[in-house]
Amino acid sequence: MKFDIKLGGAAEQTTACAIVPVFANGVLGDAARALDAATDGLITDVLESRDIKGDVGETLLLAPGAGSPCRRILLVGCGPRDRLDRRAYRRATRAAFAALLRTRHADAISYLTLETVAEADAHRKARIAIETWHDVSYRFTQMKSEPGDGSRALKSLGLAADARQARAARRGVTEGEAIGRASALVRDLGNLPPNVCTPSYLVERARGIARRERKVSVKALGLPEIRKLRMGAFLAVTQGSAEPPRFIILEYRGGKPGARPYVFVGKGITFDTGGISIKPGAGMDEMKYDMCGAASVLGVVQGAAELKLPLNIVGIVPTCENMPSGTATRPGDIVRTMLGKTVEILNTDAEGRLILCDAMTYAQRYKPAALIDIATLTGACVVALGRVRSGVFSNTDALADALLAAGQAADDRAWRMPLDDEYGEQLKSNFADLANIGGREAGAITAAHFLSRFAGDAPWAHLDIAGTAWNQGSAKGGTGRPIPLLLEYLLSR
Ligand code: BES
Ligand code: MN
Ligand code: ZN
Repeated sequence: MKFDIKLGGAAEQTTACAIVPVFANGVLGDAARALDAATDGLITDVLESRDIKGDVGETLLLAPGAGSPCRRILLVGCGPRDRLDRRAYRRATRAAFAALLRTRHADAISYLTLETVAEADAHRKARIAIETWHDVSYRFTQMKSEPGDGSRALKSLGLAADARQARAARRGVTEGEAIGRASALVRDLGNLPPNVCTPSYLVERARGIARRERKVSVKALGLPEIRKLRMGAFLAVTQGSAEPPRFIILEYRGGKPGARPYVFVGKGITFDTGGISIKPGAGMDEMKYDMCGAASVLGVVQGAAELKLPLNIVGIVPTCENMPSGTATRPGDIVRTMLGKTVEILNTDAEGRLILCDAMTYAQRYKPAALIDIATLTGACVVALGRVRSGVFSNTDALADALLAAGQAADDRAWRMPLDDEYGEQLKSNFADLANIGGREAGAITAAHFLSRFAGDAPWAHLDIAGTAWNQGSAKGGTGRPIPLLLEYLLSR
């Protein structure tokens, strides 16, 4: 796919399909007015006959006939013109691209980007358009024996812009492409079945990024090295599984040598049965998504490299399965973490914090500018925030604020959760330094509290993406979140 910024007006540019906004009460945008004049009033005609009302997300495909600069006009409802905000703009863009995907045209130009959108400048409008294209056109067919007609007719998508804003719009396109590709990577890795997307498969995909990007390097540790590092908590989770664990380290060197890196740690449980504290059967297949934090780390490193960000970034991925077996960890086992603290494992299904705590200890060697972990950590976070916002927990207000602001700007929203010391009481163990569960109450917070004990002096934040990493029901599949939030955060550094 080729994405371009187009500077001419709608009446002057030839294209197979012009995507043109129309508004409530028969109001035309500039592009619609220009094409209306070039087509003998075709657009006013369909608006007057109420074939399209102008509600947000409505579409109507017109064949204007000879004399028109475009073979088709795709009208897109955008609601009242003076109330076009980012949300309506996203919805209209999404509907337009979905309609475009049902056609066989090879090229198209969208004039939606010329409209005034509240809280979105030319850069943001272009970026949202490209992100939306990636999102709408995403298909996961690689496990079907007949992938269907996945061939994309569209070869080139133009976005209209004012000449004065061409540069900003082009930057939006570049960012949208990097974000769109990183999100697709995260969705693919999430959607792949757990018998394919294993720890060693994640290593292969990480190596793939390093092969394409000169400034990215990858190291993958195996069981002997993990043992040597004395990662007792990580080892306790993997010990019931026949699938070998991996500890992956990605380094992107885009910043000054010696500049402190942004370190991302991702939970990479490629399947979570719960272990001996086994989960109920219903919906257990969804626990293939328990590596979405790890996938996000790969996505962030790939995205940062494609954007050539002037930062040093480290991605750390502890990855294994959580299985029940004769060698599995028992409830009641006590293990020693890499940091030296002992943990009483009262529930083997609280495994994410066990692999993350050792990875966070490992991360300390980088003296992070910020240490951010991303994890499908708790069902309790889904109860608290649903599927709209990810949970943010942090020991540093400035870091939490920056992440929340990035989520807001990127429409990939998050919500800060508390971490008061009192919650830590729930993690007391009679026999070890701490327990790995804190009881029924405030489950997302006690999980985060457990992690906070391993943050050291680093400014640390934890993103609980259990509710936001994938959709259920008929739209079941990975969402690619929180890639937009994380790349926005890095772009703002
Ligand atoms: N991977 C799960 C969390 C999860 C559950 C994510 C449902 C998305 C949907 C995690 O490992 C887990 O099992 N957490 C337990 C913790 C409990 C045992 C303290 C949970 O949330 O029930
Ligand atoms: Mn679990
Ligand atoms: Zn889990």
